Amino acid sequence: MRLTILALWCALALSAQMKAPTDEASLREGLKLYQFHCSFCHGKGDDGMAANLVTPNLVHAPTDASLVNIIRNGIGGTDMPPALGMSEQEMLMVAGYVRSLGRTAPTSIAGDAAKGKALYLGKGGCAGCHMVDGKGGRSGPDLTLIGAMRSPGNLRTSIVDPNASMVGGWSMVHLTLKSGQKVSGIRLNEDNFHVSLRDGKGKIQTIAKAEAVKIDRDLTRSSMPAYGKVFSEDEMTDLIAYLFSLRGAL
Ligand code: HEC
Ligand code: HEC
Repeated sequence: MRLTILALWCALALSAQMKAPTDEASLREGLKLYQFHCSFCHGKGDDGMAANLVTPNLVHAPTDASLVNIIRNGIGGTDMPPALGMSEQEMLMVAGYVRSLGRTAPTSIAGDAAKGKALYLGKGGCAGCHMVDGKGGRSGPDLTLIGAMRSPGNLRTSIVDPNASMVGGWSMVHLTLKSGQKVSGIRLNEDNFHVSLRDGKGKIQTIAKAEAVKIDRDLTRSSMPAYGKVFSEDEMTDLIAYLFSLRGAL
């Protein structure tokens, strides 16, 4: 027990002054490790299906220590996994490489963000479900920082084919109650006896499972409509430019 505490204390003391290496040899090594461990999800950094790493401000990793921590432990509740079989030194080199990506960013991409915003608020009706800077609905994830979190490619997939890039925590649940009444909503919580959901009107309901004769969970189907046919190619480019520009106050 005492040893574990000592080890923990040492790790904390070390992490406080942890600095990712920036020399070229380490960056090259970091790139190799990145390609092996990370590019499957993050692509080249800004063209993968996971978080965009080509940004000077990583939301979850303001310091090198927190970046190494994310690499070591992953991000709980998301698809970002803990690193497997990487030494402390290797994690530092990957961290150095990831930082180097951000020095040139945010990347400027095609499209007109102002026109995209108009589409977001108008034709798209996106604000009915999504919040940006505290304004909008709660039937989908908050998009205030979405540009810092996702690559343009991933944003496009989210809009054209929501089922192909489901975000965890937003699955739907459908109940048929003994009374015959049907209730659907976003599943917020579930234990052995109850299901909590937010229905289409934004109301939170907690229903005893004993009251239900049927419970269906949609784990792979998004409640967000697919917008592939709603927007022209130019409009899609503008909409993505708008979303990619959303980086909060960072
Ligand atoms: C299985 C897919 C997957 C792999 C492999 C993966 N990641 Fe991630 N990563 C994600 C996802 C998904 C997120 C976004 C999590 C969220 O929703 O906040 C993420 C988020 C991050 C973030 C936070 C970004 C921010 O803005 O704060 C960093 C940093 C990161 N990953 C680095 C790495 C590194 C370095 C590796 C390789 C050692 C790696 N990831 C491997 C899926 C992955
Ligand atoms: C009926 C409600 C609804 C509408 C309307 C809607 N969305 Fe969504 N959206 C969701 C839900 C629920 C999710 C989470 C499940 C998923 O990933 O599909 C989501 C996910 C997303 C994501 C992925 C977020 C992430 O963390 O990766 C983006 C981007 C997005 N929506 C953008 C839009 C845009 C742009 C529009 C308008 C063109 C729009 N949404 C309209 C409900 C909606």
